[in-house]
Amino acid sequence: MNDFTGKNVLVLGGSRGIGAAIVRRFRAAGAAVAFTYAGSRDAAAALADETGATAIQANSADRDALTSVVAGRGALDVIVINAGTLVMGNPLDLDPDAVDHMIDVNVRAPYHAAVEAARRMNADGRIIVIGSVNGDRMPFAGGAAYALTKSAVQGMVRGLARDFGDRGITVNAIQPGPTDSDMNPAEGPMAATMHSFMAIKRHARPEEIAELAAYLAGPHAGMITGSLQTIDGGFGA
Ligand SMILES: NC(=O)c1ccc[n+]([C@@H]2O[C@H](COP(=O)([O-])OP(=O)(O)OC[C@H]3O[C@@H](n4cnc5c(N)ncnc54)[C@H](OP(=O)(O)O)[C@@H]3O)[C@@H](O)[C@H]2O)c1
Repeated sequence: MNDFTGKNVLVLGGSRGIGAAIVRRFRAAGAAVAFTYAGSRDAAAALADETGATAIQANSADRDALTSVVAGRGALDVIVINAGTLVMGNPLDLDPDAVDHMIDVNVRAPYHAAVEAARRMNADGRIIVIGSVNGDRMPFAGGAAYALTKSAVQGMVRGLARDFGDRGITVNAIQPGPTDSDMNPAEGPMAATMHSFMAIKRHARPEEIAELAAYLAGPHAGMITGSLQTIDGGFGA
């Protein structure tokens, strides 16, 4: 296990699901960890109590609130931009405001957070954005808007990798497939359909995604940048 003692880590959207697993993983490896949340105050407080991480309420859709939290954490070693929302359904019926909110959280926020983090990030820092295999493959109807947000992440990490590479900062996306969380429960109504697209027919555990984040954040991953790390049980194969 990489030792992150002395490392300054910020997880955006860490109160539940994949983000909470990432908070636990970095704390277990000794990092000083802060995480943001929007609405899940109780879950955030419980996770802070459990791990000793610092919980900060900040809505990623509010650019000024977001960038001021990122700036306030000082010189980061690692930022994991995990906060995301999912709006699915017939595009003819979807609430356009809900779609725009998803674009704010899944696209605008990662860009502004990554740039703000890079302003004062330590050399050899790590910017990790949680994208989705749906950036590559959307095999059923109703996911166009979500897929567009995760495809946007792909272009962003490729570009920012070149912007910050001269400081040894790496910028990568992790692209999970179906992963057990409130957003996509392993026992949910879509589970069987999703498993039908996979070589390994189960949801990932959030801890499996966190393990990949810890690898990308560690010293052995310094030459991995501008990349899309897919962890999807073969969903996109
Ligand atoms: N689960 C999957 O199958 C799957 C697959 C591929 C990619 N992903 C991606 O993985 C990431 C995490 O997903 P998840 O499944 O863990 O989702 P989740 O269980 O719904 O948890 C989402 C987390 O993001 C936070 N968040 C949401 N909106 C926010 C906002 N406006 N500001 C700040 N924090 C916000 C939530 O905090 P609050 O509760 O406090 O709002 C929560 O901690 C997302 O980017 C998602 O698109 C998930």
